[in-house]
Amino acid sequence: MPATVVLGTQWGDEGKGKVTDLLCGEMDAVVRYQGGHNAGHTIVVEGESFALQLLPSGVLYPDVTPVIGNGVVVDPSVLLAEIDAVGQRGVDTSKLKLSGAAHMIMPYHLEIDRLTERYLGKNKLGTTKRGIGPAYADKASRIGLRIQDLTDEKIFRQKLEVVLKEKNQILAKIYNRLPLSVDAIAADYLGRIAPLIAPMIADTVGFLQSEYKRGSKILLEGAQATFLDLDHGTYPFVTSSNPTAGGACTGSGLGPRQIDSVVGVAKAYLTRVGSGPFPTELTDEIGDLLVDRGREYGTNTGRRRRTGWFDLVLLGQAIRINSISELAITKLDVLDTLETIKVCVAYEADGEVFDTLPHHQSVFHRAKPIYLELPGWQCDTTSVSEVADLPSEARRFIELIEERSETRVGFVGTGPGRDQLVRM
Ligand code: GDP
Ligand code: IMO
Ligand code: MG
Repeated sequence: MPATVVLGTQWGDEGKGKVTDLLCGEMDAVVRYQGGHNAGHTIVVEGESFALQLLPSGVLYPDVTPVIGNGVVVDPSVLLAEIDAVGQRGVDTSKLKLSGAAHMIMPYHLEIDRLTERYLGKNKLGTTKRGIGPAYADKASRIGLRIQDLTDEKIFRQKLEVVLKEKNQILAKIYNRLPLSVDAIAADYLGRIAPLIAPMIADTVGFLQSEYKRGSKILLEGAQATFLDLDHGTYPFVTSSNPTAGGACTGSGLGPRQIDSVVGVAKAYLTRVGSGPFPTELTDEIGDLLVDRGREYGTNTGRRRRTGWFDLVLLGQAIRINSISELAITKLDVLDTLETIKVCVAYEADGEVFDTLPHHQSVFHRAKPIYLELPGWQCDTTSVSEVADLPSEARRFIELIEERSETRVGFVGTGPGRDQLVRM
């Protein structure tokens, strides 16, 4: 069976965890293909909430094999803690397969992420300070340590000695910090972590290819989102990986022709955590209302998310570059009380109208949204499960998205719970 990708079409936190969980009932394997524990994917089952960082959202289904692919950067301590935490809540993670080619987040990555942000001052990116950028930078510089290095003490120490020589110079001479010791890191990674991680290490590419061949259903779960993509996002206010559909191939080892559907997850409004341009941002009481009703605080870092109106220009770009075949619109219920709902259909910048994304970043920074106004439905949708029971104004909102984006909406979320959704 061809594979399915679930990915974010905005700046993250669209509800990818919930949509992945929803589709997992019919999947055999679920794969994380990029990012790391900067992600926070929430699934609410019978009132119980799970906020997953590194474990794929399919982990709650005993028959699904969870896979952490080669494109992910893994802080092994965080992975072990997460496995422990969900284990205590009755979730069995014994089938987890972890790619030996995935790069590891090391203690110096965390330190450099924090220090770089501090040194950038008002120009900081607002990262999650999880060491993600520095770990991917070392991967690109070919000095990263990979999960498989945990199984060979000699190689692990050799690589660590070389890389730490440079990192310690940076820490001491640029940031005035104390050097890190090879022995202390090796003791933790080889002594404590390696024996626990070793049984999970697998040839994930081989596994996925053989699953594909025998007809299994595979879901590739994106973290972050299209406009946080290192290549296609609002650079430099992005993450350091490729959450877009191409990243699902490089980060898992499945080829493009093995994927046949791409589900784009879009919130019924926009949010963004951290710095960067945001044309439809709301800084008024409607913005506050979206934060309150949508509980828009980071799953991971607790930061208040910035909020804004739905943006069809961004969605169009996301649909094109990801080959999105179907949309899932989440958090419709958050708009329930609004009298009027605005949807951005184009931008104006320097006297010009843009109905596609301006390719020059500084034009995008200056872009002013052009809105279409729709009447709100002003009633509670949280218990609606049939299309026919959706208020006509809500249906109009969904239809507008479908018409303008020329893409079908398959699901609409009406609450955080697993069952709070309408299949369209
Ligand atoms: P992800 O990172 O894309 O998986 O999204 P997050 O889990 O970080 O953020 C989405 C938040 O919205 C979580 O708290 C979800 O439980 C919640 N959520 C998901 N879908 C809906 C929905 O349709 N309505 C409401 N009210 N909340 C939702
Ligand atoms: P999920 O998967 C929202 C943002 C950070 C920051 C930028 C770079 O839950 O949607 P990083 O630590 O990755 O170097 O930070 O990216 N960011 C996210 N925003 N949801 C996420 O993940 C995010 N992961 C990173 O806030 O602006
Ligand atoms: Mg999230």
